[in-house]
Amino acid sequence: MKFQKTHGLALATVMLSLVAHAQPAIFKDADYKLGEKLIAESKCVACHVSKVGGDGSAIYKPQGRINTAAFLRGMVEQCNTELNLGMFPEDVNSVAAVLNRDHYKFK
Ligand code: HEC
Repeated sequence: MKFQKTHGLALATVMLSLVAHAQPAIFKDADYKLGEKLIAESKCVACHVSKVGGDGSAIYKPQGRINTAAFLRGMVEQCNTELNLGMFPEDVNSVAAVLNRDHYKFK
């Protein structure tokens, strides 16, 4: 029984990661490692946590006003400008791609 449960979980994880790789075309050049690094370094999560608590992910509302991948990228660009983060367009794209993969899941 215990073995079967573990096995099922491993399979589910593999399937999930396969699904997670189906990203919109605008993110085809995204650098996910870079995106993750920028999100950590730019204190995105720290600030979001201070606003909504938990792990901060409640700030991302896939069912909210952001409803396309392009809009999501535009939002990240807006944060970049407002917070003066100095990210290049490739950086913004990579950050948006990570957010889409982990939270918004636009196709
Ligand atoms: C100084 C605080 C702060 C920092 C730093 C910050 N954010 Fe935010 N962010 C917010 C707040 C507050 C909101 C909610 C704004 C609203 O709902 O109008 C938000 C909303 C968002 C949203 C939209 C969520 C949604 O679905 O409506 C995205 C995407 C986002 N932030 C990305 C980022 C990224 C990426 C970074 C880092 C590069 C970042 N933010 C850094 C405070 C911050």
